[in-house]
Amino acid sequence: MKFSDKVVYQIYPKSFCDSNGDGLGDIRGIIGKLDYIASLGVDYIWSTPFFVSPMNDNGYDVANYREIDPRFGTMADVEELIAEADKRGLGLMFDMVFNHTSTQHEWFQRALNGEQKYLDYYIFRDGTPDKPPTNWVSKFGGNAWEFVPHLGKWYLHLFDVSQADLNWENPEVREELKAVLRFWKDKGVKGFRFDVVNLISKPAEFVDDTQGDGRRFYTDGRHVHEFLKELVRDSGIDDMITVGEMSSTSLENCIRYSNPDEHELSMVFNFHHLKVDYKDGDKWSLMPADISALKKLFETWQVGMSKHGGWNAVFWCNHDQPRIVSRLGDDEHFHNESAKMLAAAIHLMRGTPYIYQGEELGMTNAKYTSIAQYRDVESLNYFKILRDAGKSEADALKILGERSRDNGRTPMQWSAEKFAGFSSVEPWISSPDNFTRFNVDTEERDENSVLNFYRQLVRLRKSKKIISDGAIDFIERDNLDVLAYRRTLDAETLIVLCNLRGVESSLTEKSLAEYCAQGYKKILGNFDGLNENLRPFEVVVLEK
Ligand code: GLC
Repeated sequence: MKFSDKVVYQIYPKSFCDSNGDGLGDIRGIIGKLDYIASLGVDYIWSTPFFVSPMNDNGYDVANYREIDPRFGTMADVEELIAEADKRGLGLMFDMVFNHTSTQHEWFQRALNGEQKYLDYYIFRDGTPDKPPTNWVSKFGGNAWEFVPHLGKWYLHLFDVSQADLNWENPEVREELKAVLRFWKDKGVKGFRFDVVNLISKPAEFVDDTQGDGRRFYTDGRHVHEFLKELVRDSGIDDMITVGEMSSTSLENCIRYSNPDEHELSMVFNFHHLKVDYKDGDKWSLMPADISALKKLFETWQVGMSKHGGWNAVFWCNHDQPRIVSRLGDDEHFHNESAKMLAAAIHLMRGTPYIYQGEELGMTNAKYTSIAQYRDVESLNYFKILRDAGKSEADALKILGERSRDNGRTPMQWSAEKFAGFSSVEPWISSPDNFTRFNVDTEERDENSVLNFYRQLVRLRKSKKIISDGAIDFIERDNLDVLAYRRTLDAETLIVLCNLRGVESSLTEKSLAEYCAQGYKKILGNFDGLNENLRPFEVVVLEK
C-alpha cells in the first residue's frame, strides 16, 4: 500500500502555537515548530481548517475556501509554511469541508438574496415555519432544518445552523469544489483530508425517519462513490494522500472508499472503536468502555479491510475526541504506562497512523470544573440539552468532562512555563494543571518519556516492513483484558500484547515464557524485562 510506511501528524492550529500574542494559535506558530514536528519522524502534517470563517465551529464553517482567515495569518504565511515544511520532508494535507459551507459564504448569501443559481447550491425546500421538511436531527442537537422567512423556505444543516449542506447533485457545485482542490494542489499542498465526506450524497426524497435521526438516509448515500471518483479524477489528486472522515459508516463502504482499484481515497477514518463507551450509542450517556466490543471492532475492521484491499487510517485522538490516556488509560496512576501502551496498540496495527498534537506527550482531558471554561458549540448546545432534560449541573459537567470536544482542544503543552509555552497571554481556552509535567520541554529531557516512545514507534515503522506491510490476525480473542494481534510477513512474525486493564492480566493462549521458549525476543515495551503476567497497562512487542 502506497502510504503504509507513512505517519501523519495532526495540528489544530488554534491550539498549537501562538506566535503573535493574541491568545490564538496561528500559521507562523506552526512554522516555528516545524523542526519539532520533523523530529518526530512523521511524513505529513494535516492541519484542520484555517480558511476565512465566522468560527462558529472553529473553522469547519468555511466562508471562503481560497482565503486565509486573518486570525491565523496570511496567504504568504501559508505559502511559507508549505515551502518550509517541504524543506524538512514534510507534506501538508489541507482539510476540505465540502459537505457544507458557512452561511456566511458568498454562495449562501446570494442564495439568501433569492438568486436561483445559488439556491440550487444548497438544499432548500418550500414550507411553512411550523413544519420542517423532515424530523432529522442535527449532529449538534435540534432539528436539522432552518426556516428562512423571507424566502418561505427551509435549508438543511446536518451540523450547526450556520453550516448549510451543499447540494452535490448539482454539477456546478461539484465543479466549484474541484477547482478548490486544484487551487491548493497548485500551491504545493501534498494531500487532503475530507470532512464528513460520506454524508455528501443526499436522498432523492426527503422523508421523516420513523426509526432514527435521519442518518440512514444520507450516510454513505446513493451517489457518494460516484461523486468521490469524479472529484478525485477531475481534480487530479489520485496520486496524493487523501483521507476521508466517515461518519457512522460501514466496512463494506470503507473498502470501496479506500481500495486503490476504486480510485476514490487512499484511506478512511471510521469511529466505531471510539463509541464503545457510549451507553446505548449515545455520546452523552456515560459508561465504562466495553473492552470486548473494542476488540471485536478492531478485528472486524483490520481483518475485513485487509481481506478486500481497503486501508485504514489508525488513530485514537483528534480535535473531536477526548484524550485517549484519560479515556482508556489511567492518567493519574499509570499515566506513562497507559499512554505508551495505547500508542503501541495503534501504531503497530495495519494502517497509516495519525498522531494528534499533544497525544505524543500523553496530554490528558481538560478537567474543567465550570461551564464557563468550555468553548465548543457542540458542548455548549448539549450542556443546555442535558440541563433541559433534568440533569443537575454537576451531572451535566461530569458528562462534558468526559465527552466534550474541548478535551482535545486545550493548548499544546510546549513547556512548564506560564500558559504552557503556547502563548504569552491568556489563551482562548485553558490548560489542565498537569501541563507542568506533560510538555515538550520536560519530555525531551527524559529518554523514557511518552514523547520519546512515540518517536521510537515511528522509527520502528520505518525500519520494519512487517509493520507497514505485514498481514494481521488477532490472538487472545476471548481474553477480556488483553488486546493482542500478530503481524506476519514472509518468515517473520511480530506479536503485540496490550493489557488494557489497570491490573495485572494473564495471557490465556500462550504465556510469555512459552513465547520466549519458541525463540521470540522482546523488541519493545513500556516496562523493563518480562513478568509472568502482563503488568497494569503493559505492552509487550515480541519478534521472531
Ligand atoms: C467533522 C469535524 C468536526 C466538525 C464537523 C462539521 O466531524 O472533524 O470538527 O465540527 O465535521 O464540519
